Amino acid sequence: MSTLLLAIESSCDDTSAAVLRDGVVLSNCVANQDAHRAYGGVVPEVASRAHQVNIVPVVDLALQKAGVDKSDLSAIAFTRGPGLMGSLIVGVSFAKSLALSLDIPMIEVNHMQAHVLAHFAEPPHPTFPFLCLTVSGGHTQIVRVTAPLEMEIIGHTRDDAAGEAFDKTGKILGLDYPAGPIIDRLAREGTARFSFPEPNIPDLDFSFSGLKTSILYFLKKKRKENPQFIEENLTDICASVQDRIVSILLNKLVLAVERTGITEVAIAGGVSANSALRAGLQQLGKEKAWRTFIPAFQFCTDNAGMIGVTAHFKYLAQEFVSQEVSAVPRWKIGSEGA
Ligand code: KG4
Ligand code: ZN
Repeated sequence: MSTLLLAIESSCDDTSAAVLRDGVVLSNCVANQDAHRAYGGVVPEVASRAHQVNIVPVVDLALQKAGVDKSDLSAIAFTRGPGLMGSLIVGVSFAKSLALSLDIPMIEVNHMQAHVLAHFAEPPHPTFPFLCLTVSGGHTQIVRVTAPLEMEIIGHTRDDAAGEAFDKTGKILGLDYPAGPIIDRLAREGTARFSFPEPNIPDLDFSFSGLKTSILYFLKKKRKENPQFIEENLTDICASVQDRIVSILLNKLVLAVERTGITEVAIAGGVSANSALRAGLQQLGKEKAWRTFIPAFQFCTDNAGMIGVTAHFKYLAQEFVSQEVSAVPRWKIGSEGA
């Protein structure tokens, strides 16, 4: 008999539901929240209210697109953390109620582990062990993955995440939130002719807060000379900032490969949708004879498909949780969560 999973993701500002049969994604629906644009960032209160409105229609749509009736589901998976508490609670409570009413088991999923395992949504899959650079709005990590449910963080950011570096730069430049995709688009028309410093951080750790400060000072100085500096040089500024963020990420990946000897290298998370990062990794792969893995766009940014893929591995291991489960806003891969 086949296994049918419903997966729910609500950790930040996207409400998403997916249906999987035997680990294969049949539907993966996402409701984005445009309401945050006006505030230049995600407003937790606004996000949780929108999840409440969106969750029933998104789940209905995912079931309908998959051609599955909820009475046929084998289990319900949900993001338990990390994320915004108010947002997580909506998904966790919904999953608990539905599992209770259908009398089926529940599977908790770590959102960051799911970004890594998004690579198993579609072939080609990396083989173990592999390294995964997970770059999102809240995290920047290099993860050593030894088995589907065995992974360890070997490097992480000491301050801002890579996605935050894009979004905060966008705010300084007067761009909408989230600025990552906008900077990516503008950078294609520009030249990386301004130089921003690469932080000197030991080991496999990252830092992006200094970059934000140097951009701020650079623009302040330039605008004193020419108040129209940003408007006249927007595409080149975007190309330069993106170039530096990507080089910080890729240089640490090179170091991680040198240190671990692992040459299967993947990227994941919202920032892995960035065209310069994708092209840069492919180029490095060719130069250094690595096998590189880049997820399809629908599996880069937050989506329930990746939650379902992770849950499938847990279903096979019979890792279920009880109705006493609660959301955890902080949950480092490999720990218990808090
Ligand atoms: O993984 P994700 O959807 O949500 C979190 O778990 O945080 O990542 C969102 C982040 C945002 O910071 C957004 O600006 C960034 O991913 N992002 C991009 C691109 N698409 C999304 N950053 C750079 N280039 C892109 N094309
Ligand atoms: Zn994410």
